Amino acid sequence: MLYNIVTYGCQMNVHESEKIAGMLENMGYEPTQKREDADIIVFNTCAIREGAEDRALGNIGALKKMKKANPNKIIAVAGCMSQQKNVAEYLFKTFPFIDIIVGTHNLYTLPTLIKNKLEVKKRILSNVEKGEICENVPVTRTSGKNAWVNIMYGCNNFCSYCIVPYVRGREMSRAKADIIAECKKVIADGYNQITLLGQNVNSYFDEKAISNFADLLKSICSLDGDFKLTFMTSHPKDISDEVIDILATEPKILKELHLPVQSGSTKILKAMNRKYTREHYIEIIDKLKSKIPNIRLTTDIIVGFPGETEQDFEDTVSLVEYVKYDGIFAFMYSKRSGTVAESMPDQVPEDVKNFRVNKILDLEKQIQKDKGN
Ligand code: SAH
Ligand code: SF4
Ligand code: F3S
Repeated sequence: MLYNIVTYGCQMNVHESEKIAGMLENMGYEPTQKREDADIIVFNTCAIREGAEDRALGNIGALKKMKKANPNKIIAVAGCMSQQKNVAEYLFKTFPFIDIIVGTHNLYTLPTLIKNKLEVKKRILSNVEKGEICENVPVTRTSGKNAWVNIMYGCNNFCSYCIVPYVRGREMSRAKADIIAECKKVIADGYNQITLLGQNVNSYFDEKAISNFADLLKSICSLDGDFKLTFMTSHPKDISDEVIDILATEPKILKELHLPVQSGSTKILKAMNRKYTREHYIEIIDKLKSKIPNIRLTTDIIVGFPGETEQDFEDTVSLVEYVKYDGIFAFMYSKRSGTVAESMPDQVPEDVKNFRVNKILDLEKQIQKDKGN
């Protein structure tokens, strides 16, 4: 029996696909690259921008023929589209050949859902509103020598453009002891890099162990073994001096940081509900560069947020010129239903967004060239 997984979205989803693979292999399935040969195909979807949703919808739609050719093939949809009640219902109605829809909070029930489907032969839509942390889900790691390790789930920040808090729910930190146990295991298994995952790793807190992110980093670094440690994503409002110092001094931590700025305009940052100013962000960057001269900095930028004027955009351009990032993920703002920004006035036309995103990407190319990369 063969499985094929199609993954969209962030590292969180990449790692969740490794958990899906682990659960399927526990059931006796083996991986295949060929979708047409698979007995089960799982789409692990993302809802962050309309483009990500459209791509998944297009590719799910294309499965109709395959299902017709082999009605026993199981088609399952997981991830952030499945977690949203209205989207899941839409998928279920629109694509009658989908057998299973499972949300993110109850992803670990997938093996039971597959068994039910095989026994009862009825389609299943299963998602729950609120999640809890589920330990001991099997994992088949597929990212080379890098092991992803979740330290927290969900997000409390409600950036006004972002769907994640509505989909993934409130922040929940994993117990420190469970994280340390997983790190020990992956080191023993020969992984030489650990990447800690969370939407906002700097707000990690285990109440029972009284452990914050700085403490967690120190504890992981003190583990025996030859490995490097890195983490994502950091929110500029929460990164502490202590964490910057640990990043600077701890030899096991890679000298790199992904620090999404989103915009260089304080006015836009306020409308985005990011809770820091351009000046505060620059202060953090200056600190990082002075303590870690060779640090590799990357960021995320959204262009065309509602109300972004030419001047606001120029503020982003000048910030990029100042920081000279080693990598930029630039996105055109995409309206997400249910978010605060959805109903903001002065939405920016598509052609302007397009122009601005290209300007940022061209600028980044030039910066790399100037740096000799
Ligand atoms: N938790 C992380 C990022 C999660 S989403 C953080 O806070 O940095 C990854 C990136 O997608 C974000 O940093 C943002 O740049 C982008 N993004 C999120 N919502 C978006 C939207 N509605 N339109 C365009 N880009 C968006
Ligand atoms: Fe979205 Fe903001 Fe949370 Fe990141 S911090 S996931 S951008 S709400
Ligand atoms: Fe996408 Fe969900 Fe990640 S919306 S970016 S897969 S948390």
